[in-house]
Amino acid sequence: MRMLSTSGIQTGKRLAVPRLIPFILVALMAGSFTWQWKDPFSQMKPGPVKAFEKNCARCHGPQGKFYGEGFGSRPHKELRHMVREMMEGPAFMNPSTREVNAMTAYHHALSRGEPFICLTGYDSTQNVSYGEVIPGNQLFIKSSKNKPTPVPVANDGSWNVDLPAKSRLVAKNDSTKIQLNPAEKQWSHHRN
Ligand code: HEC
Repeated sequence: MRMLSTSGIQTGKRLAVPRLIPFILVALMAGSFTWQWKDPFSQMKPGPVKAFEKNCARCHGPQGKFYGEGFGSRPHKELRHMVREMMEGPAFMNPSTREVNAMTAYHHALSRGEPFICLTGYDSTQNVSYGEVIPGNQLFIKSSKNKPTPVPVANDGSWNVDLPAKSRLVAKNDSTKIQLNPAEKQWSHHRN
């Protein structure tokens, strides 16, 4: 939105400056999803993987590499509470509940050394889904008949693809493989 501001010339006298205030109505068009989402979908810019690098990595290392011993043993509620406090406190993020949940899920993946998948957006005009994995994870689309198709992943873990209906996303690292049904969950390691 463009704001026009007018400033009066300082003459010592108070001038009645006619002001033109244009109102521009921005219609936000909510895209309709090709899948029937069981959960509400939230557009995240960025998702937890990139948000962590931007807001948390300066203290906790890239992909949380500086987290200490015992990080993985925290119970879910305690971890979630900690993540929320960190997002609101040192990271100044003002997160939504779903952003806290996604960041907590990402921490469950990190603490177990597992791959992680998060869908972060959907563009209905292009039919493109956007998302993240942990940098270095390999990502595939699995549909019932075909062989898994590799999805190109950028260095920061982000990817985008035209996701066929009824397909699953599979992410792999050196030791583990995880699967996500995008019609059911927006991210893996979901607990909320
Ligand atoms: C300015 C530095 C700083 C930033 C930025 C920061 N943290 Fe922390 N974080 C700390 C410190 C210091 C501790 C340990 C002290 C404590 O337990 O309160 C901690 C502890 C944690 C823990 C508990 C670790 C464990 O061993 O169980 C988690 C989880 C966490 N932070 C997540 C985050 C997340 C997520 C972000 C970004 C949204 C973030 N932090 C940003 C400094 C930071």
